[in-house]
Amino acid sequence: MEYRGYDSAGIGYVLQKKLEVIKACGKLHNLREQCAKEAQALTVSTALGHTRWATHGAPCVKNAHPHVSQDGRLALVHNGIIENFLELKAELLTQGYSFQSDTDSEVLVNLISQALKEEQDLVKALQKALQRAHGAYAICVLDQETPNVLYACKQQAPLICGLGIGENFIASDIPAFLNYTREVLFLEDHELLRLTPHSYELLKLDDLTPIKRDTKEIQWSMQAAQKGGYRHFMLKEIFEQPKVITDCLAGRLGANYRVLLPELDAQAIPKHLHIVACGTSYHAGLWAAHLFQSIAKVPTTVEIASEFRYKEELLLDAHCDQLLVISQSGETADTLAALDMANAIKIPTIGLCNVLGSSIARSAKAVIYTQAGPEISVASTKAMTSQMLLLTCMALYYAQRKECLKASVAQEFFDKLQALPQILEAQLPSMQERAKQLARKFAKSQSFFYLGRGFCFPLALEGALKLKELSYIHAEGYPAGEMKHGPIALIDPTFPTFVLAPIDQLLYPKIKSNLVEIQARQGQVIALTNPGSDLEHCERWEIPAFAGPLAAFLLLPCLQLFSYEVADYLGCDVDQPRNLAKSVTVE
Ligand code: G6P
Repeated sequence: MEYRGYDSAGIGYVLQKKLEVIKACGKLHNLREQCAKEAQALTVSTALGHTRWATHGAPCVKNAHPHVSQDGRLALVHNGIIENFLELKAELLTQGYSFQSDTDSEVLVNLISQALKEEQDLVKALQKALQRAHGAYAICVLDQETPNVLYACKQQAPLICGLGIGENFIASDIPAFLNYTREVLFLEDHELLRLTPHSYELLKLDDLTPIKRDTKEIQWSMQAAQKGGYRHFMLKEIFEQPKVITDCLAGRLGANYRVLLPELDAQAIPKHLHIVACGTSYHAGLWAAHLFQSIAKVPTTVEIASEFRYKEELLLDAHCDQLLVISQSGETADTLAALDMANAIKIPTIGLCNVLGSSIARSAKAVIYTQAGPEISVASTKAMTSQMLLLTCMALYYAQRKECLKASVAQEFFDKLQALPQILEAQLPSMQERAKQLARKFAKSQSFFYLGRGFCFPLALEGALKLKELSYIHAEGYPAGEMKHGPIALIDPTFPTFVLAPIDQLLYPKIKSNLVEIQARQGQVIALTNPGSDLEHCERWEIPAFAGPLAAFLLLPCLQLFSYEVADYLGCDVDQPRNLAKSVTVE
C-alpha cells in the first residue's frame, strides 16, 4: 500500500497475549529494518499494518499508525479525517485520557476503548463510538483479547476485504493482497466487518443485522502490479500504454463502424456535459472537451472537483445537464463529493474509473471502466491514456446516437484508433532515447514553460504537472497565445520552453510565431513536432504525424518520458515523489 502514503509506517500484532506495535519514520524499508531489530522470530496469525501520509500531525514515529488505546488493549489503523476530533479529545482529556500523538486516529481508538468499558463487546463498542465520529474514515482494529480477529469499518473512504483459503485480508486497495487472492468483498459505508483467517461476518453498523453480499473476482494479474523488469513502475506503466489502448478498445468498436458503449444506452444524450475531476484526470477531461464539442456537438465544461463542490449554486437542470466524473482510483474525495452533489439533485451521472467497485464506480448512475490495470506509480500515466481513449469512444458514441457523424469519418477514427497501439509500441524506445538526451541538457533548469494550443493546451498542462511532481522543477502550462499577456516577461536564456507543435493547418503557423517570440528573448525551446517541420534554432523532437486530436496519444508519452528522464537524472524518487499520494481520499 506504499503508494497511498509513505511518510511513516507501522505494524501491530498480539504476541503471547500482549499487543505489540513497531513503527518507523520514512519509507517502508525503515520499518522492515526496525522489525528485524525489535522482533527477531515473529510468528503471529493476525497483524495490522499501515503506511501513512500525514494529515493530522507531522510525519514522525509517534504519529505513525497503529495507534494504541491508553489501556494497551486496542490497536487501530485509520485512513481519513475525524472532523470533530478536537471536541472528542477535549472530552476524553477531562476523563483522564492522555495522548501520545497529535493525530485524530489516537482519539478514535480511545473513544472506542472508552465505549468498550461500557459495552464489553467490541462490535457494540465500535457501533457506539463510530456514531460519534464525524468525517471520513476507514479503520481496522485489533483487540488483544481476541488476537485472531480484525474489525473494520468505513465511511467515505475505501476499504475492501480479500478472501483467500485459510487467510483473509483487509486493505484500502486491491494490489495489497492480489498476491494471495482475487476474491474481493467490497464494504459499503456504515458496515462493520469481523474477520478471522477462516471466516467473515458483515454487519450493518446501525442495528448490527447481518448483510449478505456476493464477492467479486478481480481480473488484474499480480505481474501487472509488479515492476516486470523496469527500473520504476512509472516507466513500466508508460511502456504499457500500447497494450492499454488495445485493452480499452476491446469490445468498443462494433460492426458498421459503430461504437459500443452499452453502459450509456439507457441514458439520454446530454445537452450539456459537465466534466469534473482532479489532477491528471482533469487534464484528460479538458482534452476530451474538444472532442465532445467538435465530434458530438455537445457543449462541455470542465471543472476541478474541489472548486465545483463548493459552488454557491450548481444551476444544473436534470433534463439537460449530465455530470461525468473522471477518476483513476475512483476514490478521490473531492471528485466523489461532486458526484454525490449531482446525485442528490438527480442529475444523470457517469463515472469513468479504473478501479472496479471503487466508491465513484458504485455511486455513479452509469459506470465506464478504463482497462488500464493497476497503476502503482504516484504520477499517473497510462490511466490518462486509457481515459482519453474511452472519452474518444464516448464522443463518437454520442455523435452516432445524434446521427451527426458521417460513416466515412467514423471509419477514419476506427482505422486510426486501431493503428495506434502498433505505432506507439514502435515509437516508445526512440522516444525514450530522445527524452534522455534532452533531459541531460535541461535537467538543471529552475523553471519551464509548457505551451500548446487547442487540444495541445491540456497536454501542456499535463506536461508541466508531470515535470513538477516528479523532479520538483517549477513548471507552468500555458495556452501559447497567452504568453504575450504577461508570462513572456519571464523568458531569458535560463528559462526554457517546451512547445507542443504538431503540424496541422490551423494552429501550427500560430504556434510557430509564439516560438519565434520566445526565441527573440533568447529563450531556449524544445519543440515536439512532426517530420517536415520548419521550426528552427530549437531542439526539434520529431514524432510521426497523427490525425488531429488523436495525436495526443503520441505526444503524451513524450511528455511523460521527458519528466521521467529528468527526474531519474536528478536522482529523484520517481515512483513516490515527496509530499504526494496517489489517491487523495481526504479533502
Ligand atoms: C492525485 C494523484 C494524481 C491524480 C489525482 C486524481 O493527485 O497524485 O496522479 O491524477 O490524484 O486522481 P484520480 O484517482 O481521481 O484520477
